[in-house]
Amino acid sequence: MALDILLIGGDGDLAIRKLYPALVTLESAGQLGNVGTITAVSRKVASAEELLEKMYPKLKGSDGFCEDSWTSFKKRFRCLKGDASSPEVFSEFKETLSKDSEGVLVYLAVPPKVFGGACRALRDAGLAIPSTRLVIEKPLGTDRESFRLLNEEMREGFEESQIYRIDHYLGKESVQNLLALRFANQMIGSLWSGNQIDHVQITIAEEVGLEGRSNFYEEIGAMRDMVQNHLLQVMCLLAMEPPANHDAEMIRAEKYKVLRCLKPITGDDIKKHTVRGQYIEGSIKGEMLPSYKEELGNTSNTETFVSIRAEIDNWRWTGVPFYLRTGKRMHTRTSEIVIQLKSPKHNIFGKSGYSLKPNQLRIRLQPDAGIEMDFLSKKPGLGEIELEELRMDLSDPEAHHKHTYDAYARLMLEAINGDQTLFVSAEEVDASWAWIDGIKNEWEQQNVAVKPYASGSAGPVDSAVMMAKDGREWSDLKI
Ligand code: BG6
Repeated sequence: MALDILLIGGDGDLAIRKLYPALVTLESAGQLGNVGTITAVSRKVASAEELLEKMYPKLKGSDGFCEDSWTSFKKRFRCLKGDASSPEVFSEFKETLSKDSEGVLVYLAVPPKVFGGACRALRDAGLAIPSTRLVIEKPLGTDRESFRLLNEEMREGFEESQIYRIDHYLGKESVQNLLALRFANQMIGSLWSGNQIDHVQITIAEEVGLEGRSNFYEEIGAMRDMVQNHLLQVMCLLAMEPPANHDAEMIRAEKYKVLRCLKPITGDDIKKHTVRGQYIEGSIKGEMLPSYKEELGNTSNTETFVSIRAEIDNWRWTGVPFYLRTGKRMHTRTSEIVIQLKSPKHNIFGKSGYSLKPNQLRIRLQPDAGIEMDFLSKKPGLGEIELEELRMDLSDPEAHHKHTYDAYARLMLEAINGDQTLFVSAEEVDASWAWIDGIKNEWEQQNVAVKPYASGSAGPVDSAVMMAKDGREWSDLKI
């Protein structure tokens, strides 16, 4: 018995850049044992040979590539020419399935506007059966309403348990490690509430700009591109209650509860607790770079930077702000979480003039995933006690010798294994949109303009001011 994979959009950018390398990585790692055939559906490319030739240059550089695994991969690979919304191509595919096929994993590597038509065509071809799984990826709508429509179209033929919604951040090793950190370590777990934690910062900063995606990005902006999905998912993993076990249902239900507790940001708070930015010219690592508008070739009010002071209204987190921040063309590429603890209630060193700088737990998600703790220690020496700040590195010293897998390889494997833990449920997406829509509507009604920030900086000054008003500051990425 084997699972067959059907890749719709088989000659597209996502397939070539991410999906084939992921499959070949899994082949090399011996993880495709229960996979039968891999069939690409393409509108343009007619033969498997042509497509294999197209993907080869990208694959050669992928994780653990070797000629043996490439040979095995080629044996499984087929290509069918056809349109994603025509049942004929899927009927043709069905004919190719062997009697002992245990089901089909359909990867919809096509734009979301095609999802509905593709689902109908799969249904008409008799493939909307319980053993079929669908994998889809963002953008899952542009607001709550469009997400609901999209979801309804898919649900005409498929149950929620058959739909695997990718957020590639959930496939990152370092993001998964958040669960281990919180729930496998009593030392960390016991710190985890508003009694000990002053606030949390989550930053996803990028150096890249538009990367040739101007049409897509101009419509979407940073809020929908990064906050609605990646930032909120990371926040959920940090804020959720301990699930009873590691099952998909348990974890997804806990994340959903966090999203439901997000306090809407309205009225005057919109200008106090959110900042929109757009990059202007500037330099990164000595290279002069153009502004967003120059890259776009037009005027624009789309945000390439967002920072938000989010509040989770529940027993554990009321009074503990979660500061979220993301931006393009920032001075460095880093995704980082900072958990700042409260200061000790009483300072016995006060007489010597020392204020007690709060401890920080810093979790770097990328690049160079790692964990560090900042704490105060006695400076070695005679006489009066003097304090100094030390940074303790809790990262795995062997990390660079250990092989880590690309997020897509991990997510593909989980979908093959039928485990939805790392995929986002419809109710999570729905609740995220509800909160995001609220902010976006207020931005529109209150004409909240984008604030300029130089490429290569840490974002608009207003973002630092937002923190300063709370008596806090962004860690590391200072202006
Ligand atoms: C994608 C966004 O979801 O994530 C991109 O559409 C962004 O705009 C990318 O660059 C960032 O992903 P990563 O894994 O490079 O942090």
